[in-house]
Amino acid sequence: PGTGTGRATAKTILFGEHAVVYGRPAVAVPITAIPVTALARPVEGPASLRSALYHGRLDRIPERLRPTGAAVSAALDAVGRPSAGVAVEVRSEIPAERGLGSSAAVAAAIVTAVSAAFGRTLSPDERHELIQIAERAAHGRPSGLDARSVVATGPVWFEDGAATTLAVGGPMTFVLADTGVAGRTREAVAAVRALHEERPAHVDALLERLGGLAAQARVALGTGDAEAVGAAMTDAHAALNVLGVGDPALDHLVAAARTGGALGAKLTGGGRGGCIVAVARDADHADDLVAHLRAAGSPAAWSTHLEASR
Ligand code: MEV
Repeated sequence: PGTGTGRATAKTILFGEHAVVYGRPAVAVPITAIPVTALARPVEGPASLRSALYHGRLDRIPERLRPTGAAVSAALDAVGRPSAGVAVEVRSEIPAERGLGSSAAVAAAIVTAVSAAFGRTLSPDERHELIQIAERAAHGRPSGLDARSVVATGPVWFEDGAATTLAVGGPMTFVLADTGVAGRTREAVAAVRALHEERPAHVDALLERLGGLAAQARVALGTGDAEAVGAAMTDAHAALNVLGVGDPALDHLVAAARTGGALGAKLTGGGRGGCIVAVARDADHADDLVAHLRAAGSPAAWSTHLEASR
């Protein structure tokens, strides 16, 4: 036993949020420029956590940070040391509640660090299961998309619980912009479930449409067709709004992206706040688009670039 370290990154869902909970495919991209790291060290005495959000004993962690506590406990269980003391320190650059995968990324870094501190290297599937324990504490029915995306090294196609690397046929630049309104994934997932119970045919048609757009986008990414990716995003945003996971602040930034020359834009992640993702024409345009979205009121915006994979 010694100090264990773990690392993960933010992610953005390009296509398939919510629909993925109902078995439809999704496309996501890790944002490697926005990392989270965790350090874990076995100690005498109780398990503790130090992060920007909390510093104290794990068994006194506030309710809203329960998923983080669950990640530590799950990793201790996995190494066969459920009641061991461990000091965990988390440093995250991922803004929380923005649909950027903060909860899954923090959990991924923690489970890797804690297991390493007790001399265990987790297999990708073991690690995934532990992240999912934390994600279940965050919102009832996580698809696993976030858990897979925050540890990926390139764009992923997610289907049936598994992620495969997606081929990219040409360079593509995406811009993310925060609405400044906290996203409410848990609430949005519950609202979709309620609507699905109430109007199954209506919701199934929307989910089918969102899954179809993910499939179209997979082809467009493979041929490097940024315009087609953008057009599919604009369609997906409309469908997500009908699904009830939109928000006026998201619509405002999607419209601003359009006037700023984006090829398309949509909400990303759980919705009801959080971020939008837009397709830029190229890397230079991405810089302009970031400035345009900031001027439209977004408190934070980033760009992320994909190179052709072949
Ligand atoms: C949240 O980032 C993505 C959702 O599809 C939920 C999930 O996949 O579990 C809304």
